[in-house]
Amino acid sequence: MIRKYCYGKPFETDAVIEMLPVSPGNPASGDVTVFETPERLPASGKAPAFCWRRRLLPEEMVFGLGEANRGINKRGYVYESFCTDDPNHTENKISLYGAHNFIVIAGNKPVGLFFDYPGRLHFDIGFTDPEWICVSCEEADLYLYEIEGASAEDIVRQFRRIIGRSYIPPKFAFGFGQSRWGYGRAEEFREVVRKHREQQIPLDMLYMDIDYMDHYKDFTVNPEEFPDFKAFVEEMREQDIHLVPIIDAGVKVEAGYDVYEEGAANGYFCRKEDGSYFEAVVWPGFTCFADVLNRKARAWFGSKYAALVNQGIDAFWNDMNEPALFYTRRGEAEAEKTVRRYLESGPDKNVMELYGIGGNLQNSVRDYREMYHDADGVSVRHDRVHNLYGYNMTRAASEAFEKIAPGKRILMFSRASYIGMHRYGGIWTGDNKSWWSHILLNLKMLPSLNMCGFLYCGADLGGFGDDTTEDLLLRWLALGVFTPLMRNHSALGTRFQEFYRFGRPEAFRHVIGVRYRLVPYLYSAYMKAALNDAMLFRPLAFVYPEDEIACHTEDQLMLGDEAMIAPVYEQNAIGRSVYLPEEMMFVKFLPDGTISGEILPAGLHFVRVALDEVPLFIRKGRGIPVGDPAQSIPALREETIRMVGYPGAVYDRYDDDGCSTLS
Ligand code: GLC
Repeated sequence: MIRKYCYGKPFETDAVIEMLPVSPGNPASGDVTVFETPERLPASGKAPAFCWRRRLLPEEMVFGLGEANRGINKRGYVYESFCTDDPNHTENKISLYGAHNFIVIAGNKPVGLFFDYPGRLHFDIGFTDPEWICVSCEEADLYLYEIEGASAEDIVRQFRRIIGRSYIPPKFAFGFGQSRWGYGRAEEFREVVRKHREQQIPLDMLYMDIDYMDHYKDFTVNPEEFPDFKAFVEEMREQDIHLVPIIDAGVKVEAGYDVYEEGAANGYFCRKEDGSYFEAVVWPGFTCFADVLNRKARAWFGSKYAALVNQGIDAFWNDMNEPALFYTRRGEAEAEKTVRRYLESGPDKNVMELYGIGGNLQNSVRDYREMYHDADGVSVRHDRVHNLYGYNMTRAASEAFEKIAPGKRILMFSRASYIGMHRYGGIWTGDNKSWWSHILLNLKMLPSLNMCGFLYCGADLGGFGDDTTEDLLLRWLALGVFTPLMRNHSALGTRFQEFYRFGRPEAFRHVIGVRYRLVPYLYSAYMKAALNDAMLFRPLAFVYPEDEIACHTEDQLMLGDEAMIAPVYEQNAIGRSVYLPEEMMFVKFLPDGTISGEILPAGLHFVRVALDEVPLFIRKGRGIPVGDPAQSIPALREETIRMVGYPGAVYDRYDDDGCSTLS
């Protein structure tokens, strides 16, 4: 049962695609207050115009919020939906790159809530008062959807139905992809492929970060390195490699650059209040931002992807689309003033004055307030619709693909997102670090993302920032082999983390090989989830709601209907404790290519897992199809597929051509 409530004049986000009538009154699940004169709420310290709140019973758990920090059960902390370019995902961070305003309160009478509000939205989930949840925002203009259902899972399914089918990538996107910020020379790209093939480490995708472009200009390639880009793309395809170029949100301001000139001539960029184009510095220097909230501008920006698609590209990642701003002229002028004041102040200089400069320059809310959209005739200040930018940039591309490459699936994922974008692409969870704690953070986000419709997702395996280590990378991969997006990506200046750089390429060959062995199952499970508005990864609490220990186990996940994953995520560990809510088969993919299987009774166990082993648990009576490893997705052999799991188990495997769009 879904009810839709309307407050004020909401911005139409198109997150929900099912037409629902607006119900009169207020939702029964909580108390809504619309403040005539803004009051300071102790919860947020801010002055909200709208607040929904409700008492939480001790046993209730709160799920959802997609790409967010901390636990799978979100109780006990505070979160803010405001797409944020912040590479330091420490525990205190309340906003990451995505804004996914859907929660489920699970208890005796479960309820789901979707706050369709594209500005900054604050969730105080038992932070100020452990017994209260309060969701508030600064403008009382939103739709609130309230969903009642038999269980948390039933509520998620109902929600997923009204937001539309999740994005379906091409099958090659279930292979492994190598990436690093810094690859720029054609020879460097060739070498990465050569080394993978030489060491027999499977590979399907090679990512092109910003250095493939001509001076970081979107939809261009460096002409010196790629004088015949089409031929280069073809050369890679002959080796079963799909190149995945990055596209950034900012379009370089440069006379003579066709994308800039066309956008400027046609009024397709976001503006300032005085009508001039809004400009901010990102990688290429000063840039403009296509007004993707405007239908015409969106169609125009999307059409630009054709420049690369026409050269054989069938995969992209959209970046810096919160949008990330390094600084504007305003910010720079103010920083200069601060520095001057500091330098000119007398002998008692206060160095603290300088500390705030960075924060005021980068991704400054003041800048977001100076940026305006023309939302099909209505002028809207950017900060009020901030969370829609990455979504609509990705939508621009996806809508254009229908014309540029009709009937063909294109790999597409984005950094910033809002619910609704899940129909157009996947996401990666941004600039994590080579920290053990980030393996667990990666795991915990997966079911929350699935609740919000994002099925094609993954993290930078091995960690993006800071230096990785061989053991960290291997342990992280033993989770990554199960995530739909499986990519090794790292930042410029960090230790190189291509697998062949380490002393034990055979360990990596084996672990990545396990991914390919699992593709017959993973692809099928993914497609079943997408086609049935279901989750690929579920918290144990969704499957065993009566089991108190299962409900509070957050370092294991259910995968599909058949399996459970429990990767090792601690340094120096020789295995881990695992809780089995029911009897399961403990399966290990061993480095010699064999698969061990041991039936374990329900309860708590310590299982040993070596660095080069991949553990998996198969639910009682079930089994999954597993093939032989291969060097790429097209090299997988159907005839090698066999069942792994309980004897006699049957599995109904979904498969298709992996490249045509589905109606
Ligand atoms: C951003 C992206 C990262 C990329 C870098 C350079 O930080 O999140 O993945 O490598 O920009 O383009």
